[in-house]
Amino acid sequence: MKRDRCSIVREIDKDIMSTSYDRDTDFVYSGGKGVYLFDCHGRKFLDFAAGISVMNAGHSNPQVMSAIRKQLSLGTHAAFPDFYAETPVMFSQTLLSLLPSPLNRVFLSNSGTESVECAIKLAKWHSRKKWLVAFSPCFHGRTMGSLSMTDSKPVQREGFAPFLPVKHVPYPYPYRFNGSEEECSNASLSAVENVFKKLDGNIAGVFFEPISGEGGYIVPPKNFARALRKLCSEFGVLLCADEVQSGCFRTGKFLAISNFGVKPDILCMSKSIGGGLPLGATVASRKIMNWPHGAHSNTFGGNLLACAAGKAALEFMERKNLAKNAERVGKSMLKRLSEMKEDIEIVGDVRGMGLMIGVEIVESKKSKKPGHGKREEILKKCFEKGLLMLACGNNVLRLCPPLVLTENEAMKGLDLIESALKEVE
Ligand SMILES: Cc1ncc(COP(=O)(O)O)c(C=O)c1O
Repeated sequence: MKRDRCSIVREIDKDIMSTSYDRDTDFVYSGGKGVYLFDCHGRKFLDFAAGISVMNAGHSNPQVMSAIRKQLSLGTHAAFPDFYAETPVMFSQTLLSLLPSPLNRVFLSNSGTESVECAIKLAKWHSRKKWLVAFSPCFHGRTMGSLSMTDSKPVQREGFAPFLPVKHVPYPYPYRFNGSEEECSNASLSAVENVFKKLDGNIAGVFFEPISGEGGYIVPPKNFARALRKLCSEFGVLLCADEVQSGCFRTGKFLAISNFGVKPDILCMSKSIGGGLPLGATVASRKIMNWPHGAHSNTFGGNLLACAAGKAALEFMERKNLAKNAERVGKSMLKRLSEMKEDIEIVGDVRGMGLMIGVEIVESKKSKKPGHGKREEILKKCFEKGLLMLACGNNVLRLCPPLVLTENEAMKGLDLIESALKEVE
């Protein structure tokens, strides 16, 4: 039997690529446009994954593609850490124009985990303190510094110790907390305060995802981020916001933490800020990011193609007011999903902000027992029906479509999810 291209790609991949890659479906990418992806048979899929929350400006965005082409004709690599170049500086200016003061200095890298590594080093350098505090669950990346904090799936940490000194405290997870939202928030805050007191001022920074991403798309109680900010200020601990996944207009504001009226001391960004090319940014105030030449650097940070793409993507998203679109379409999706929750026994919780939405699958509403197997079946069924979606946490469906999604496309996707949920139920 003649084998098709998709099967050949999968076979070679299985033979030569690292066994650590983890694919939920058989999808083989061949291209994308807007909110759609195409596999190597030319089959069209509605994309609710956005390349893991990267393609906020839409696949093959014409403005982004044209900026890449223009830069390509001039050159690709300026070794920006060692030589001045216009494109990374212009990108950074655009990024800063979207951020609250006093976030006014930028370090450029190539990924989320690198943006976190830079933040860890900066927090330590600035404070000269030893410990980091992170939440559980949390995901900050997989290199040794960020992995020291990451606490999402056991497989991500097993076999990699020793780690940096990190204390974990519970992320406020209202659905899984036995009590009110306020009690949930207070329980996490008092855990943070206890750690602050116990470590007696020897803490460099608290790393916080304003909405927990990989850990399960968990939205903390409304007052939590503000109270955490207050605690950090009281104890002189740097608040480091990891907006690698939640940032870049996804939640209706440029930063998710702005939904809570909070400003971080150090900010980590990546994914969507590169418009589809690898780009990371760590941002802080002049007062904090004043380390000496050579204290932190790299080779590819400020890559010209990535910065040209990123600048065009940020400008496009701002011009088209995609934050507003995310907020509007996200609201309709949450409404429709909440109606599904009423009808469908295995939908335990529906939560989110803008187009960062989690649907927690359970065995039954009463038991709240995590429906891990059911979640996997739902993802497979959605794929068969033409919808690409990712998982997060142990039993959560992760909905993070490109922010150019229209209401109509959103409802089409939800039709597919609803029918998959009903079949699996
Ligand atoms: C919140 C958060 N931080 C850090 C990372 C790590 O980013 P990367 O995979 O680009 O290293 C991720 C990746 O999903 C993330 O969601």
